[in-house]
Amino acid sequence: MTSRVDGPLKVSGRAKYGADHGFPGMVHGYVVVSTIGHGEVVAMDTTVAKSAPGVVGVYSPFDPLKLRTATSMLFGQTWVPLQDTEIVYYGQPIGLVVAETFEQARDAAALVKVTYQLRPSVTSLRGNLDLAEDAPPTREGTPSVVVELAPGVESIQDALAASQVVVEGTYSTAAQNHAAMEPHSAVAVWESGELTVYCGTQSAGMQAAELASGLDVDESAVRVLSPFVGGAFGSKTRVSVEAFLAAAAARVLNRPVKVALTREQVFTVTANRPETLQKVALGAAADGTLIALRHDSWSSTPRDRSYVEPTSHTMTPKAYAIPNLAISQMMVPLNIPPTSIMRAPGEGPGSFALESAIDELAVALRMDPIELRLHNNSTAPVGSDLLWSSKHLEECYRIGARRFGWANRSPEGREDGEWVVGMGTATAMYPAMRFPATVLISLRADETAVVSIGGADPGTGLRTVMSLAGAESLDIPADRIIPQLGDSALPPGGLSGGSTGTASVASAIMIAAAQVIDDLLALASSPGAPFAGKEVSYADGCVHGDGQVVSFGALLREIGRESITARGSSAPGEELTKHSFSCFGAQFVEVRVHKWTCETRVSRMLGVFDAGRIINEKTARSQIMGGMIWGVSAALHERLDIEPDGRPANGDLAGYLVPVNADIPDVDVHFVQYADTLHNPSGAKGLGEIGVVGMAAAVANAVYNATGIRVRHIPITIEDLLD
Ligand code: MOS
Repeated sequence: MTSRVDGPLKVSGRAKYGADHGFPGMVHGYVVVSTIGHGEVVAMDTTVAKSAPGVVGVYSPFDPLKLRTATSMLFGQTWVPLQDTEIVYYGQPIGLVVAETFEQARDAAALVKVTYQLRPSVTSLRGNLDLAEDAPPTREGTPSVVVELAPGVESIQDALAASQVVVEGTYSTAAQNHAAMEPHSAVAVWESGELTVYCGTQSAGMQAAELASGLDVDESAVRVLSPFVGGAFGSKTRVSVEAFLAAAAARVLNRPVKVALTREQVFTVTANRPETLQKVALGAAADGTLIALRHDSWSSTPRDRSYVEPTSHTMTPKAYAIPNLAISQMMVPLNIPPTSIMRAPGEGPGSFALESAIDELAVALRMDPIELRLHNNSTAPVGSDLLWSSKHLEECYRIGARRFGWANRSPEGREDGEWVVGMGTATAMYPAMRFPATVLISLRADETAVVSIGGADPGTGLRTVMSLAGAESLDIPADRIIPQLGDSALPPGGLSGGSTGTASVASAIMIAAAQVIDDLLALASSPGAPFAGKEVSYADGCVHGDGQVVSFGALLREIGRESITARGSSAPGEELTKHSFSCFGAQFVEVRVHKWTCETRVSRMLGVFDAGRIINEKTARSQIMGGMIWGVSAALHERLDIEPDGRPANGDLAGYLVPVNADIPDVDVHFVQYADTLHNPSGAKGLGEIGVVGMAAAVANAVYNATGIRVRHIPITIEDLLD
């Protein structure tokens, strides 16, 4: 149980985030955004703005900054601002005003007069299903339509028709904003043709490469520093507009430039989770054995179709052993702000539909929903013969049911004074993945060890994991490890995305540590060294040999060296051809719905997770708690509404609801710990995203249990429960 190693720096305000950086001569940029949802910028009158106090530059599509379409490692092409006059969503960046102070830039930005040619906006997903197109293949190459049928079965319709019990429903989920505490910002400094950018990103290396491509400079000329990140959740995986603008403006002005988005701008200038509509049909035999599953999804996408929420393709083909499956994924291009990945992309909203439908089937079968799930527990994804490397979902449910008092649940809920009380459950899944990572370890003469990687810790606890994994591999106390990250100049890897940070970095640490220990021993026994010619071994941070024990620090001092450094890399490999990998969890929720006001309160919640070895239970628990709270928020609070003209109706933290303390009871989290060394040497899997998965369905299922009302959309509001 180790407290976050960077906790004291954060709570005392000493942690320096991107926008906390300042430099002599620095000027401030304010982004000008469109006030129409669709059309063209015909003219921008910047004369008055240019002569406003403190203004040093005004840029627009008619007086652009030099940028070109960038390339993101994860997402392909990235749109860059000010290169054309087309408006495809409300709040699209169309200009930048740079001035001596932020206030001067903001005031001058208000003086820019924009003339538009307006075209009609198309913003409703539900109202424009006729515009739907097949989604592109997923990143793994899976096409938008997948059908797997048992031998002799002609179609999914036949399989459903042959099922004794069938449930069908249309589910929908709202668009969401990541709403990370730290708004997006960038401070750009050029020096002799080299750029340094201070910002919050989920990967300093990826950010640097993408910036370099947008600025048309060599990758080696860009360094990104992102030591602290105030939350990201997917919104800081690709370069957002303020960094391109700050860097391009700093280049022409030859002064450091800071561009910080306002909270309102974050809602349109960065990206949101798409809105989804999902049709699910489930067929089963009378004993609950699943026969057929159809899941068709529609996701909103912006006009450049840059991201589709893969709700049919993520958890649906993996959760259950099912002989007949048909999934499809469509997208509907709209005049909405950019969309992107958000915590459990696909699984989050997809699990709401799937796990609500499973609950509906349990009701139709008069079966306990846990029993139904375990009866159909998958041993591999549908259509794959690669079995899960490790799956303990049954134990999660067994422990969870006992801990939560599931046996006391009645199929009709119960009453408690003016409240009706219900319990719901749902399965959580998120793939266990990792990415190639390289770690540098330096043993130093002062008995400390520096463990470095380019990756990011946007609040996930990666620094703490690095301390603990480093301590274990080097056999020294964690307080002697100095973790370093958030710098594109450090070795690549440790992207904070896809719940991959811990597994990727901890594996590489093991390899780097073994290497630096080997190098140390070779050094210790080399001619002229304290153990010259002797048999040596390493334990407790010391070299042992011939009855003598010398700490690595003392050894280095004795031979007059500051440090010894080694590098270790680890990447996914052969195991991918042998097993399927996932994390699993069982979510439990109790809700109380007021009989007269229909107010819904979550009164208890428990998540039990199978995510491999847990390296630090404290930060792991925090990760999961955060995810589960996100799930409650998706179920009961969050909904980003876009008006017919493209304007966000609630694009700020005053109008966009997120839960507060009073909305969230104690969050009970439990881990079943089975190190998954088939997945990676550290045995740890990922925790960043799975906490959110299934939660919204568990809430909706609990609401059904309490009230008998099945709400097939989220967020669930009071109106949904009024008679
Ligand atoms: Mo996470 S949505 O993969 O940053």
